[in-house]
Amino acid sequence: MNDYELTPTQENDIGMMSRIHAESFDDAWTGPMIRRILAMPGSAGLVARAGRRWSIAGFTILRTVADECEILSLAVGSEHRDRGVGALLLDGAIVRARALGANKLFLEVAEDNEIARRLYHSRGLVPVGRRPGYYIKKDGTSAAAVTMSRLLEEAVGASA
Ligand SMILES: CC(C)(COP(=O)(O)OP(=O)(O)OC[C@H]1O[C@@H](n2cnc3c(N)ncnc32)[C@H](O)[C@@H]1OP(=O)(O)O)[C@@H](O)C(=O)NCCC(=O)NCCS
Repeated sequence: MNDYELTPTQENDIGMMSRIHAESFDDAWTGPMIRRILAMPGSAGLVARAGRRWSIAGFTILRTVADECEILSLAVGSEHRDRGVGALLLDGAIVRARALGANKLFLEVAEDNEIARRLYHSRGLVPVGRRPGYYIKKDGTSAAAVTMSRLLEEAVGASA
């Protein structure tokens, strides 16, 4: 994991973030969409840089409103997956959310996304809600959205 470094998102990361988002999700976010999301009040972006500083392996975007922080997106480029980058980003998001004054972290994840759900569970997030048929996939099938949440006052597992 020493090959990756977390830093705040910069303007010139947006193109690669869009590419990673497109290969990770059916509803691809364009560069202008990501720029608008990052400009929303309370938004913050983190990227995991790989090797050369312009190259990013993955990113997460958070939004804090009052004392609650939502992970709006978290994705790792396919060539960097299963090397701990998702966990690094999630741990960074938890640290950042605490620093922004949030006492609760939540997100939505597709019910059939077992890898992501396991990652979130490993950092103390538990399912608190379910929206059937929320995600419509390119092949026409759908998946429920599961809301996962945890409090941030106490350190849990690797997020300490
Ligand atoms: C979900 C995602 C962010 C995980 O990122 P990652 O960098 O591959 O994850 P990590 O290497 O940190 O591994 C996290 C856990 O998943 C496991 N994992 C990762 N890839 C796996 C795979 N292909 N098969 C089985 N387990 C896998 C790891 O072993 C680890 O589990 P452990 O803690 O029990 O050992 C990444 O797969 C991704 O970007 N997917 C597409 C976008 C997405 O689904 N984002 C989340 C939406 S809410």
